[in-house]
Amino acid sequence: MKGLILSGGKGTRLRPLTFTSAKQLIPLANKPVLFRVIQAIRDAGIKEIGIVIAPETGAEIKSVVGDGSRWDARITYILQDEPRGLAHAVKISRDFLGDSRFVMFLGDNCIEGGIHRLIEQYAASDYNSQIVLTRVADPRQYGVAVLRPDGSIDRLVEKPKDPPSDLALVGVYMFDRHVFEAVEAIQPSWRNELEITDAIQWLVTHGYRVYPYVHTGWWVDTGKREDMLEANALVLEELVPRCEGEVDAHSVVDSRVTLERGARIVNSVVRGPTIIGENAQIINSYVGPFTSIDRDCVIENAEIERSIVLEGCRIEHIPARIHDSLIGRRSVITHAAAKPSGYRLLLGDYSQAGLL
Ligand code: TTP
Repeated sequence: MKGLILSGGKGTRLRPLTFTSAKQLIPLANKPVLFRVIQAIRDAGIKEIGIVIAPETGAEIKSVVGDGSRWDARITYILQDEPRGLAHAVKISRDFLGDSRFVMFLGDNCIEGGIHRLIEQYAASDYNSQIVLTRVADPRQYGVAVLRPDGSIDRLVEKPKDPPSDLALVGVYMFDRHVFEAVEAIQPSWRNELEITDAIQWLVTHGYRVYPYVHTGWWVDTGKREDMLEANALVLEELVPRCEGEVDAHSVVDSRVTLERGARIVNSVVRGPTIIGENAQIINSYVGPFTSIDRDCVIENAEIERSIVLEGCRIEHIPARIHDSLIGRRSVITHAAAKPSGYRLLLGDYSQAGLL
């Protein structure tokens, strides 16, 4: 089998971060979502991996991910000129995929427990496609599957007002070569994209064997800030803590905190699960649970909780606690001492700031 990771798209919901960087490279517990996806595919025994990239962010992804040798995998990059839909991404990957069966994984999704069990099940089956589903409390915001009495997929409904089941599509799909007939046959949707749900529906309607795999752990699509923070919390919960940094005698650091190489905690309280990245410094501060502070950050006289802070940030002398925040690389948040008092902001386009 081969792997296909979709890492193009525009990431409009994560602006302004996605103006300068790919959303798939935003770290969860200081490791990019995309690395977690590659690792999951590799752990399932798949070494041939194609990554669909966009013109705007493709170069960055290539330079950060490289040729795959770090995972003992071989990576091929496939350029998609515009985000014309998930089924379009499959269509342009035909040369790479050939006649192989493959797993397609959305590059901004994160799934508990990896994918080796579902890969094994698909590999041992004669299914033409198997799609990963999970039970959700409110199916109205997802693609939803209806099953037949024999357990196969009967139909898929996109964001139903009146959901026919609670089985939502997760961003992991397995296909054989018949999917190419489907992606050639379907037409763009109202949003002018070739939809993967339409391709799967086409397979069902044309008598191909499409079955579900019902995933029981957590799964997060990190498309929005709140989802990113939720995924970060879940990944931090799973992290086995290690301490490669330094903690001074005036600090309290609990047992579920990971300190990466060169991290320094001075006169501070750090509550886990939390990760403090390489050479980051936490001084006279409180870092609360579910927080990832990436490398080379300085947090001084500040409090921060349930947040993701990307590399090289400075957060200093802040009177109120920062929480539920996603802060881009090398941002500076500091107290404005000079008069007139008040907030002084330099925000990128589409930034969001919640002020007191
Ligand atoms: P989405 O989150 O659906 O789309 P997006 O990344 O453009 O984000 P937004 O809606 O905020 O603008 O995409 C899911 C994943 O699939 C993501 O990793 C990007 C990737 N993708 C492609 O590679 N090609 C495409 O044509 C589309 C639509 C998405």
